[in-house]
Amino acid sequence: MTALFTPQLPERDAQEITPGATHVPNWLTLEQQQWIAHRFHEWARGPVPLRAATVRGHQMSVRTVCLGWHWQPYRYTRAATDVNGACALPFPDWMIRLGRHALQATGHETATTGSYTPDTALVNYYDTNARLGMHQDKDEESRAPVVSLSIGDTCTFRFGNTESRTKPYSDLLLASGDLFVFGGPARLAFHGVTKVHADTAPAGCGISSGRINITMRMTGLDG
Ligand code: SIN
Ligand code: MN
Repeated sequence: MTALFTPQLPERDAQEITPGATHVPNWLTLEQQQWIAHRFHEWARGPVPLRAATVRGHQMSVRTVCLGWHWQPYRYTRAATDVNGACALPFPDWMIRLGRHALQATGHETATTGSYTPDTALVNYYDTNARLGMHQDKDEESRAPVVSLSIGDTCTFRFGNTESRTKPYSDLLLASGDLFVFGGPARLAFHGVTKVHADTAPAGCGISSGRINITMRMTGLDG
């Protein structure tokens, strides 16, 4: 009976990076990666196209398309008023189920897992020159965990602390199919992508070069 009340065991290969932040290498099968990469190519066609957001006057090197809610610096809107005014595509049900599996795989309690209902996903595309500076994901009103999935080229992902962009941080490789979840005490940790490693995407993952990253989140917004 006690098992009913204890957290799910994390998957065997799950590695806690800091309390609340867990990396599960090779979580998605190649077939799943390829299927999701095909969806990415559909999403990128619009109605809101893949675009590089402008942050404090600088265009990001990462390009993004959003599902559910559209993210623009530094807020969520239904319509992409900073792009073409079109509404973001709906958030797919399969991604909610995948998000719940991701929390199970990283040892979250059943109560958290069952009520996890992400309503936005930022789908990023990195070419091999793209980088993402250290930042916090703090535009959401909810502090539910962020679930991150990577497909394509491997990157160096820097995951730090909640106080500053600087040390202490861990540099880890996120490869195609990897899952990374951050919540609880790590939810507001600074993080970024320091390098994309060219020619590392596995054959059959659905993209031949560059990196797709999906971060699903709960906005905590109504409507
Ligand atoms: C993000 O921080 O929004 C994306 C992280 C990643 O690309 O791994
Ligand atoms: Mn982020």
